Amino acid sequence: MFFMFDTLEGYIQPGTVEAELVRQIDFSRLPAHVAIIMDGNGRWANQRNLPRTEGHKAGSESVKEAVEAAARLGIKYLTLYAFSRENWKRPEDEVNTLWGLLRKYLAEESRVLVENDLRLKVIGERSGIPYLVRRELARVERQTCHNRRMTVVLALNYGGRQEIIKAIKKMVRRKSRLDEIDEDLFARYLDTAGIPDPDLLIRTSGEMRLSNFLLWQSAYTELWVTPVLWPDFRKKDLLQAIVDYQRRERRFGGVEPVQKKGRQ
Ligand code: IPE
Ligand code: IPE
Ligand code: MG
Repeated sequence: MFFMFDTLEGYIQPGTVEAELVRQIDFSRLPAHVAIIMDGNGRWANQRNLPRTEGHKAGSESVKEAVEAAARLGIKYLTLYAFSRENWKRPEDEVNTLWGLLRKYLAEESRVLVENDLRLKVIGERSGIPYLVRRELARVERQTCHNRRMTVVLALNYGGRQEIIKAIKKMVRRKSRLDEIDEDLFARYLDTAGIPDPDLLIRTSGEMRLSNFLLWQSAYTELWVTPVLWPDFRKKDLLQAIVDYQRRERRFGGVEPVQKKGRQ
């Protein structure tokens, strides 16, 4: 399927829960970067007596909806945790299904990304990603690298600790002067170089943990956990997360609420 993501008009029907949530959003204070730990596919399938892989298939539909909703809202960066360094511990057929679904997603959605001015960026250890998927990812990244509307960051074979170690190694190789090392310099060696820290981190399926996701970057991120399982995640859940986020006071260690860290 191919279509243009226009504005919210026509996407949100008047008189619905979604419309009421949109009314509550202050579009001048949107989170610039929303990150999502997409969790609960296995439980969703279990509840329906289906194999776990069916949960992952259903989850890819939620990915499409989250990308579209975020782009229409005007979010600049959407990071999706799709495969962790630790997910290799899962049964081989589940692992294969996950990578297969990603290839299918890229084949079906690359045109949607291109036509809607969306950029794809991968973070994580690329060398461990199956070759055919890696090649497809590189193709879509190249195809979309000049797009500006929103960046979709896919965390694949990603682990926060491994990312930090990799960054330290690169930094030590290039910079020997200890006094040059500070937070900004270090952040430039992370996979997320150039991407602002997430303002809002959503985790589905009710788990209250980071599971090795964006450990450095989420130092002052607002966390929002929902019991909704990822295959059931819809635009209204994203809207609710943003409404709740905007009600929070972000203080960054001070006493007064601040809009953005840089403005202190
Ligand atoms: C998230 O759902 C998908 C990935 C981790 C790739 P899970 O597969 O972890 O689902 P649960 O946590 O077992 O329900
Ligand atoms: C986190 O979910 C990883 C992804 C969503 C890709 P997991 O299901 O792997 O995390 P744990 O094992 O419950 O911490
Ligand atoms: Mg899980």
